[in-house]
Amino acid sequence: MKTISLTINGKAHSLEIDPATPLLWALRDHLGMTGTKFGCGIAQCGACTVHLDGVAMRSCSVPVEYAEGKQLTTIEGLSESGDHRLQQLWVEMNVPQCGYCQAGMLMAAADLLQRNPTPSGEEVDAAMTNICRCGTYPRIRAAILRAAGDPQAVVRYAGGEA
Ligand code: FES
Ligand code: FES
Repeated sequence: MKTISLTINGKAHSLEIDPATPLLWALRDHLGMTGTKFGCGIAQCGACTVHLDGVAMRSCSVPVEYAEGKQLTTIEGLSESGDHRLQQLWVEMNVPQCGYCQAGMLMAAADLLQRNPTPSGEEVDAAMTNICRCGTYPRIRAAILRAAGDPQAVVRYAGGEA
């Protein structure tokens, strides 16, 4: 066990914890921050995505000690009142279905737009590697393109537009 100091959403936290514990479990089990989800545990699905020093990371596969001294942002801290432009569009465009993957999707999308504020559809497809069991990918894609300044972005399904 070791004392680990974390800065999460701008607030200082101190934990007595095995430093090899996955950051996801530190957040969920030790700090009660359950907005960040567990999906696969092997860095494949992205449900656990957080930002470390502004860069998206899959927290199930990062030891908690790696986050020490860094600025950690979780879905709870993406915006103060749930009014990040992406969160607004997620609501306006009815993006979620069951919702389980969506915290990770939002964190991945926010990271993409920080790096590339005006991605093309192809760039969104390449960057968004998170998995959604409900298949909300067309709505996620359209919402990101709207956030990137394309007011005409529509939801495209294999069978047409919606
Ligand atoms: S739970 Fe971390 S990538 Fe799936
Ligand atoms: S909305 Fe259900 S897993 Fe993505």
